Amino acid sequence: MTLNIDFVRSRFPAFTEPSLAGWGFFENAGGSYSCRHTIAALDRYYRENKVQPYGFYPASQKAGEAMDRSHERWAATLGVAVSEVHFGPSTSMNTYVLAKAISDSLGPGDEVVVTNQDHEANTGALRRATKAAGARLVEWAVDPESGRLDPEQLGGKLTARTKFVTFPHASNIIGDENDVQQLSAMAHEAGARVIVDGVSFAPHSIPNLAVLSADVYLFSLYKTYSVHQGLMVVRDDLADELPNQGHYFNAGLRNKRLTPAGPDHAQVAAAGAVIDYITELGEHHGFTGSLSDVAASVSALWRSHESALLEPLMAALRAMPSVRVLGSDRPASQGDMYRCPTVAVALRDRDPADVARALASRQLMVGAGHFYAKRLVEALGIDAARGVLRLSFVHYTSLAEVEQLISALQEELS
Ligand SMILES: Cc1ncc(COP(=O)(O)O)c(C=O)c1O
Repeated sequence: MTLNIDFVRSRFPAFTEPSLAGWGFFENAGGSYSCRHTIAALDRYYRENKVQPYGFYPASQKAGEAMDRSHERWAATLGVAVSEVHFGPSTSMNTYVLAKAISDSLGPGDEVVVTNQDHEANTGALRRATKAAGARLVEWAVDPESGRLDPEQLGGKLTARTKFVTFPHASNIIGDENDVQQLSAMAHEAGARVIVDGVSFAPHSIPNLAVLSADVYLFSLYKTYSVHQGLMVVRDDLADELPNQGHYFNAGLRNKRLTPAGPDHAQVAAAGAVIDYITELGEHHGFTGSLSDVAASVSALWRSHESALLEPLMAALRAMPSVRVLGSDRPASQGDMYRCPTVAVALRDRDPADVARALASRQLMVGAGHFYAKRLVEALGIDAARGVLRLSFVHYTSLAEVEQLISALQEELS
């Protein structure tokens, strides 16, 4: 079965927006278009329920119900308990608060494993928090050629003192999937907790956390066709163990312990609407079962559509002598692990920002820079001040858009 791309695109108002007509969007790793379900839910909340939620009058009760529904729908989709779903302003804020809680739980002699493959949001605060607690930071470094993480090397970093291990499900530069299941099992075997940054992975494949078994899993809904919020799953036993970061009188409320700010009611209420999109897409393709089953089937369709589009793009880039393709160089469909269509290239004799500007004049939206993965870009031997050219797409991208990108790249870079 193949993904019905026309059906998909009809669910995204950006594709019928006159000011965007003719533009190919390849900066999805920075933030995706929103589906119409998300936009309608936000609009509805602001028109009908913009009052204090969980109160004594109908508009308020409906507001609270919409917020609860988002928790419930995401919990069922991700395969976790409702109390394990936390919405915060962004992944960076979620990791910041989490790092503070972790810092309060660490002591001298404890160890925390971090990588240099991450976006800084996933390790910056944790690095500082580990040092502040007097604990030891253990670096698990990427291969300087491919940028990939070797699971065997993690084995050598784990000790009886390791308390936390953190890594990305996929990097926002190289796109290769890390085997969360395998890495979590290794860390758990050593008695450590696992924190996974799923920001660059979730837009391509909605994770099933019952299978992946990470203790914390984070992603950004604004890159996943939804609202500008960060979704953080924290396993209940860990949330109970970590010191409360909210008001002292809310310490007994799991969903307030790690999100101290008052929630953005409208965005939380609209956060679950993207699940309605996934469900509708699943129904259209004949999928049945639980929400997590449907999300898994829809994700498989997304991945095969994306992989089919990735092949010609990778082949075209590989044929350009002035371009170094970062990450895995194998065809997208080979190997066990998925390769997200987040393609970063280093340019031998052009400034990536100049090329991004040139592509914009051809109605192509692409990004340039280090994308806050400065450690990774430097580890790959690239000048971070210039960074890389990043071409990232998702399941709503069409073959015609990829072809538009390829011919523009061929003219600009060959
Ligand atoms: C892999 C990755 N992790 C974390 C973040 C930070 O997410 P947020 O913007 O929600 O703070 C980003 C943002 O680009 C990202 O790409």
